[in-house]
Amino acid sequence: MKKLISISISIFILSVSQLKADEGMWIPLFLKKYNIEAMQKKGFKLTAEDIYSVNKASMKDAVMIFGGGCTAELISDRGLILTNHHCGYYSIQSHSSLENDYLRNGFWAMSDKEELVNEGLKVTFLVRMEDVTSKVLNGISENTDDYKREKIIENNIRLIEEDAQKGNSYKIKVKSFFYGNQYFLFVQKVYKDIRLVGAPPSSIGKFGGDTDNWMWPRHTGDFSLFRIYVDKNNEPAEYSEDNVPYKPKKHFPVSIKGVKKNDFTMVFGYPGRTQEYLTSYAVDMIKNKINPKKIEVRQNIIDIMSADMEKDPGVRIKYSAKYAGVSNAWKKWIGENRGLEILDAVAKKEATEKQLTDWINEDKDRIAKYGNLLTDYKNIYKDYTPYKLAQEYFYEAIWRMESVKFSSKMASFIKKEDVKKDDIESIKKYAKEFFKNYNLTTDKKLFKTLFRLYYENAGDKFQPEVMNIFTTFNHFKIDKEIVVEKYAKLYFDNTFFLNEEKFNDFIEKYSYGSEDTQKVKDTPGYNFFYDFVNVYYSKIIPFTEKYKTKIDKKNRLYIRALMESKPNKVFYPDANSTLRIAYGKVDTYEPRDGVEYQYFTTLDGVIEKDNPEIYDYDVPDRLKELYYKKDYGKYGEDGKMHICFIASNHTTGGNSGSPVINGNGELIGVNFDRNWEGTMSDIMYNPDQCRNISLDIRYVLFIIDKFAGDKRLVDEMTVVE
Ligand code: ARG
Ligand code: ASP
Repeated sequence: MKKLISISISIFILSVSQLKADEGMWIPLFLKKYNIEAMQKKGFKLTAEDIYSVNKASMKDAVMIFGGGCTAELISDRGLILTNHHCGYYSIQSHSSLENDYLRNGFWAMSDKEELVNEGLKVTFLVRMEDVTSKVLNGISENTDDYKREKIIENNIRLIEEDAQKGNSYKIKVKSFFYGNQYFLFVQKVYKDIRLVGAPPSSIGKFGGDTDNWMWPRHTGDFSLFRIYVDKNNEPAEYSEDNVPYKPKKHFPVSIKGVKKNDFTMVFGYPGRTQEYLTSYAVDMIKNKINPKKIEVRQNIIDIMSADMEKDPGVRIKYSAKYAGVSNAWKKWIGENRGLEILDAVAKKEATEKQLTDWINEDKDRIAKYGNLLTDYKNIYKDYTPYKLAQEYFYEAIWRMESVKFSSKMASFIKKEDVKKDDIESIKKYAKEFFKNYNLTTDKKLFKTLFRLYYENAGDKFQPEVMNIFTTFNHFKIDKEIVVEKYAKLYFDNTFFLNEEKFNDFIEKYSYGSEDTQKVKDTPGYNFFYDFVNVYYSKIIPFTEKYKTKIDKKNRLYIRALMESKPNKVFYPDANSTLRIAYGKVDTYEPRDGVEYQYFTTLDGVIEKDNPEIYDYDVPDRLKELYYKKDYGKYGEDGKMHICFIASNHTTGGNSGSPVINGNGELIGVNFDRNWEGTMSDIMYNPDQCRNISLDIRYVLFIIDKFAGDKRLVDEMTVVE
């Protein structure tokens, strides 16, 4: 059996040249085998070892996971790292207040001493990776039943991880690829003292805000700078005043030579999740049943938050990060649905399935192995959809009520019988953060709208007891709006802990088992939360989990069948937050008939969009001054300051902050977004329409050097002129 598996794996060892232009997120370990020739043909001048090597310093030593979900890269031999403004946003915001608003005004440390400590922020490097497929699947045969298979795999993975962990403090992880057809071991090194070095004002770093988000042409200077600090042995350490800047094995030289159409580009980073091998049934569910509903819910949230933020600058600071998160996925889904529609994605998937079915039917063994696959999918997705939808409503509607999140915290707190000082301190800390960014009026509005949306759309089977009020009042022909209004009043008037003062008062004197515990249990907030959680755990999750297990199993077979049926095609695995390479070229595209978009934008466009009335388009005076003087130093090109450029690299969420590298291995940009016409690339890539958006590195240097005057930072970089 082992043999069988290795045969199917070796199928994608051929050559990538047969693949659609520039599609794919490739595994660094296999570049030499599959990709390097194609890359060199496109203009890459270095070797596979220059990108990934265990024996010598390579680019992988300069690329890291930044925080939870972004990428960053080293750009100096003093641990200076570059990522996006939207990736550093949380840190920048956490140091900001109305008096000292680094989001609005930017922040520049003019010396190491001024760099700001960020509690909890980490960066993670890959030390090495290894294909452990045969070890993970050891002991499994074609006939092993599912339960046993799962147990064997779990056990094998545990053994591999324990073995890799011996005698070191690395972070060790085995991850599945191609839905369990292949497995890799990852050995990672985590650094924990990461300080904020610089960030432009939002009017540069988030220029165009959510209006321009996911759009090309784009003029956002989406970058921020941090520094890794280590102990005196150059090893990771918790924050200490004695820590010093990290001396890396490798950092990227920065090229200010500029970017031309058709230039080779490569993006090296941590794409989070793609689903390129879904069946037509899955694409249909996402596109036609799930996305439209999620879009609708978020549209409601966006309307409420933006109205309140527009009215009050205090609310703007509190809600800007939350709003950006909600709006980001909302806009992506709209683009994704549009892209899938234009591509006729469901029909394309059906055609692939038809081909596969024909191939299966050619052979008795194939019929035995894969014969039921597609009809099974059809049935599973039909049954799965209502549960999936309810689950989405739980997350998108109920869980987006801020009061519910806080109630959930309270609920787990009052469960603890033996309350320690630490527990009290920890919930106080949580509450402080929560209230810092909480506006009760906004949350009330959210509550009312989301409550109604859940009631109307999540499905009859998934309504908790509290929804009975609708039936009761309906009886008396009382309007839904009024019911919601009345219930919301009762809810907020009587959930005392949503008031910061009352909460603080309560927590200072808290003791378990006294009236205190009961006092929380008596609040509508607590009961509402419990009602929903009960429904979630009894009526939603057991079913979504059941169907997901079934689907995962089918996916494993499906992708194997696909690979076996196309022995000449090279498959790339879906993104799964592991280090990948995408390569392509700087390129234009045609968003609509008769329109071609240039591959770069300039500061002229910023000035065109300038509007002091609108927060997101309010260009700083200093920037205008530099523009009118054309004071671009060595960073300009033909009298213009370039800002962003697009290329055909296949990227996704998580690739934000990734280095964009030219044929010489030099940094030419920072990846931060995709074009709206191409956001369906997470499900289906279209080489004509999909572009990644990068910030031109020259604009980064211009802002640091000319705009902020933090010259020391440019001096520590290796600038190639
Ligand atoms: N669309 C980009 C990504 O998915 C950038 C998001 C941050 N910017 C914003 N305006 N919300 O992360
Ligand atoms: N903006 C995304 C990120 O934060 C990148 C993308 O989806 O293209 O990772």
